[in-house]
Amino acid sequence: MIKLGVLCSGRGSDLQSIIDAIKNKKLNAEIAVVLTDKPNVLALQRAENAGIKNICIDRKNFTGKNDFESAILKELKAAQVDLVILAGFMRILSANFVHEYENKIMNIHPALLPSFPGAHAHRDALNYGVKISGCTVHFVDEGTDSGPIIMQAAVEVKDDDTEESLENRVLEQEHIIYPKAIQLYVEGKLKIVGRKVLITD
Ligand code: GRF
Repeated sequence: MIKLGVLCSGRGSDLQSIIDAIKNKKLNAEIAVVLTDKPNVLALQRAENAGIKNICIDRKNFTGKNDFESAILKELKAAQVDLVILAGFMRILSANFVHEYENKIMNIHPALLPSFPGAHAHRDALNYGVKISGCTVHFVDEGTDSGPIIMQAAVEVKDDDTEESLENRVLEQEHIIYPKAIQLYVEGKLKIVGRKVLITD
């Protein structure tokens, strides 16, 4: 059974969708550990409620990024994690970290990449005036939201959308495609060829 290590910073609704997909037998994996960079966040509570090992590695307790990432890596290795899942983890991982789990880190971003990378995707999409936005599951490389794309879902942008209303509709799609993309990985169906991810049978 493939072991997931899920990294979160806050609410953890994407984490919840993975927990639920495993429970409903849509995703054949096990969450070995949930790690957060902040204390007292809902993601920790969701993991706890599901009986999943959860640890806060509070960024504030570390002076440098290296030490912080080493502490995360130590927990991931201790839990024998095969695939790292970024689920609302609001930190950019260093190249060193990424190389430790080369092509074994996934992220979900709330826009149709390469449009609107970064921390304010919904605001940026609304300000730009796009008619369609969505979400993207991708492998993580050394850049920000720049790795090979695994799956995307489109969401219509309405004239009266606020950041919140758009976020809520995009989240519905996130909660569908993230578990699906992870299941494809579990089934060994994702093949990275340069920038492309082929979904094989
Ligand atoms: C989601 O919008 C995800 O796309 C982005 O961060 C948000 C996390 O939400 N990476 P949640 O904490 O999973 O509810």
